[in-house]
Amino acid sequence: MQPHIERILYTEEQIHDRIQVLGREISEKFRDRPLKLIAVLKGSVFFLTALARAIQIPVKIDFLSISSFAGQNPGLVRIAKDLDDPIEGEDILLVEDIVDTGLTSRYLLRTLAARGANSLAVCAMLDRTSRRLVQVPVDFRCFEIDDAFVVGFGLDHRQLYRNLGYLAVIKRD
Ligand code: IMP
Ligand code: MG
Repeated sequence: MQPHIERILYTEEQIHDRIQVLGREISEKFRDRPLKLIAVLKGSVFFLTALARAIQIPVKIDFLSISSFAGQNPGLVRIAKDLDDPIEGEDILLVEDIVDTGLTSRYLLRTLAARGANSLAVCAMLDRTSRRLVQVPVDFRCFEIDDAFVVGFGLDHRQLYRNLGYLAVIKRD
């Protein structure tokens, strides 16, 4: 274990097992519809690739990245790198590393809806409902957590720890 890790929340195996379950549920729900997975760089990429391999129907994938306006309202974000392709008429699954306050997801859902997606659903690796400020429909999730800051499996602290295979709480200074 790395020196800054306080405790492991979910092991690689536990994450893998939940992703397999979600992959089956998503495959079932979208079995007649071509699905596009959309993830936000960089945190959600690890979850997206694992999830995509657990889904048994053909899927497209696309990415965007967002940046927040420094020093301003934390929920205020803008698209820094946009999707490569239009999404009009498509069934979209927004893949999130963690839905915390819900502000980021709400912004993204509104943006995607305005582009004429046929349907929008959300799949979150982690769902921290205790900190929610705005309602977000989380259709699929691996785990609900109520912990302090979590790193690993794509989640960072100051850009570090994304490459951990597990989800952990770090020692804060
Ligand atoms: P929200 O807009 O408050 O829902 O926050 C979503 C974003 O905040 C996530 O995509 C993460 O980048 C970041 N975030 C929230 N909680 C954590 C955490 O515990 N660890 C790492 N990043 C987090
Ligand atoms: Mg982050």
